[in-house]
Amino acid sequence: MSTINDTILVTGGAGFIGSNFVLTWMKANSAAVVNLDLLTYAGNAANLASVEADPHYTFVHGDICYAELVGSLLREHRPRAIVHFAAESHVDRSIVSPEAFIRTNVMGTFTLLEQARTYWSELDESGRTGFRFLHVSTDEVYGTLGPDDPAFSETTAYAPNSPYAASKAGSDHLARAYFHTFGLPVLTTNCSNNYGPFQFPEKLIPLMILNALEGKPLPVYGDGKNVRDWLFVEDHCAAVRRVLESGRPGETYNVGGNSERANIDVVTAICDLVDEMRPEAGAAARRELITYVQDRPGHDRRYAIDAGKITHELNWKPAERFESGLRKTVRWYLENSEWIDGVRTGAYREWLTENYGERRNAGTKGLGT
Ligand code: NAD
Ligand code: DAU
Repeated sequence: MSTINDTILVTGGAGFIGSNFVLTWMKANSAAVVNLDLLTYAGNAANLASVEADPHYTFVHGDICYAELVGSLLREHRPRAIVHFAAESHVDRSIVSPEAFIRTNVMGTFTLLEQARTYWSELDESGRTGFRFLHVSTDEVYGTLGPDDPAFSETTAYAPNSPYAASKAGSDHLARAYFHTFGLPVLTTNCSNNYGPFQFPEKLIPLMILNALEGKPLPVYGDGKNVRDWLFVEDHCAAVRRVLESGRPGETYNVGGNSERANIDVVTAICDLVDEMRPEAGAAARRELITYVQDRPGHDRRYAIDAGKITHELNWKPAERFESGLRKTVRWYLENSEWIDGVRTGAYREWLTENYGERRNAGTKGLGT
């Protein structure tokens, strides 16, 4: 029988949400953080440069699919919690190449759960009671909504529509099963679309900011009327901390921004912000760059989150309004050109050609290149 430390093991902490989580955690908390990240194209150790030298921070470059590595990290650091962000996260990539999604999201989560179970079962009673496995998931597992449907709640049936969503649904089911069958204290959060600093510019908001800045076409899929519920990333991090502190093991919590917006409205808002912050004498308004392109296959029409449970049970609600959060985000991308240059490698340009090269609607050429 053995005891636990105050340490938390974060997976995927060099990605968009994970790095925001580590940074905000370390500002508010003296407990040590071990960050296990494979540094795929989406992971960037530079996001965490400001905490690199902190003795409470340990970075481990590795794969959540390697059971031996995960097991030895748990035995060495004896964390009181695992906060699991690591995933393949981009829907378009899951359509082009689904395999990595099954490997990391399903097999990787399984490996973590299995190693966590072994570690947890050898803890003393207070360690077993205090330990938490927090699985960070998405609202995409619920599928798609019609315009008048009620928002997704924790009891909405799963109906994933993309390989990404299906792989996350698989991981959610495994997480649930490890609580139900083995009693592992698992919590799951299902969150809506995040935006904010450090988001890799393959996702809608940073892609549009950078293309608008550079006078490139702004590729809007389909009719642009698909709706997402946007949440500022720091609000998501606060929700994860709250669930970790006070959530009930075995429960799932929906997290959302109460900010449903059609894609075209998000893109025009970005155009207007870039026009305001980086006016170009004599140039046309950035809205002129909007280009409707071929739709994403199986494109979910609308997501909306009913966050009543986390609000009432855990007293969490978003602090940031969409308009102010978007303004902060546009400013961050304008002020961090070094970070942007660092992530726009050759592999990034290849992805743009692969994803946008074939979307030839509206007679556009050179989209995203
Ligand atoms: P991201 O793609 O920006 O980051 C993923 C991180 O995981 C990267 O640092 C990557 O290097 C790491 N990683 C990938 N495979 C790995 C492996 N096999 N082993 C170790 N590390 C690995 O993703 P994100 O947008 O920050 O999302 C984080 C989590 O939150 C994901 O689980 C995602 O499903 C979930 N989520 C994201 C959003 C969103 O809007 N971005 C919304 C809801 C939920
Ligand atoms: O809902 C939560 C999910 O949000 C997370 O689980 C995912 O990890 C995250 O990537 C995000 O998924 P989306 O597919 O909603 O995000 P994305 O930024 O890729 O697209 C947002 C919307 O914008 C979607 O309707 C597709 C559209 N879109 C996207 C891109 C990249 C465009 O119109 N043009 C584009 O070039």
